[in-house]
Amino acid sequence: MNDLKSYVDYVKRLVEERFEILVPEEDSYAKDIFTAMRYSLFAGGKRIRPLLAFLSADICDISHSDILDFACSIEMIHTYSLIHDDLPAMDDDDLRRGKATSHKKFGEGMAILAGDALLTESFRVLSQIKCRDYKSMPKIIKEVSLCSGPYGMVGGQVADLNAEGRSSDEKELAFIHRNKTGRLIECCLVVPALAALSDEKTIEALRTIGKDTGLLFQITDDLLDIDGDINKLGKTPGKDAENKKTTYVSLYGEKETRNMAFELKEKTGKLIKEIGGSEVFLQLIDFIYERDH
Ligand code: IPE
Ligand code: IPE
Ligand code: MG
Ligand code: MG
Ligand code: MG
Repeated sequence: MNDLKSYVDYVKRLVEERFEILVPEEDSYAKDIFTAMRYSLFAGGKRIRPLLAFLSADICDISHSDILDFACSIEMIHTYSLIHDDLPAMDDDDLRRGKATSHKKFGEGMAILAGDALLTESFRVLSQIKCRDYKSMPKIIKEVSLCSGPYGMVGGQVADLNAEGRSSDEKELAFIHRNKTGRLIECCLVVPALAALSDEKTIEALRTIGKDTGLLFQITDDLLDIDGDINKLGKTPGKDAENKKTTYVSLYGEKETRNMAFELKEKTGKLIKEIGGSEVFLQLIDFIYERDH
């Protein structure tokens, strides 16, 4: 698979078939939670995080089937973060992945619970991944927790929420972006290396690539919020200005933001080549840089 399109189709199919097994419909008094979890999980989404996990597995020489449940687990955490991010108490969004947001469809209580359920289930799913040596399992659980919780994504969301309605400086904005989005992306690249028992040098190189790809991803998300097309994005543009967020665009201006994105793309591409990453990996970084959705 030498082209990004075939690789994306392949990863989407693998992940979505696996979700059918991991998160089935269930007919009990708790039926509604499975409906709500499945609604958001199957709403589409680019599956960038599973893709990164598979591309890292290629570098670390561990099989896709071995890390499939990790890829699903991270996509579940990401999906939960989107459901909660869209709540009225947070960004207050009506549209996600081209569909009504979870709280619009099921009500706020069920949306909160759908997020809670996806997060909790993600760790059960994670427990099923195949490691070269199960002694690396505690390290993997620690990595996923650190990247998702108050030291990672949740921490970034807290800082993002606290900064609403006022301006942030460069340091605060970098903290927000690197944590709310960067850490989960970093985790996607690091965990396959932990599962494969890769050497420290490889793990650190993948971590750096992950951090910078995560920052690049949120910078392009900020750019799309100003000029994206609602039909392609599947979410409402203009929300950052409406919610008075400081973004890379509002702090540095569009031109400088695009320059920064270009620098990150170039730096990351160089590092990927240095550790023997594939052509598809480079194409994915180009996609993240140029994306329109
Ligand atoms: C959106 O993530 C939220 C951010 C972290 C910027 P994605 O753009 O990856 O959303 P989906 O998964 O494709 O819907
Ligand atoms: C989201 O950042 C980060 C998350 C942890 C979900 P945004 O609030 O910018 O994401 P979108 O633009 O709503 O997807
Ligand atoms: Mg937000
Ligand atoms: Mg948002
Ligand atoms: Mg955004």
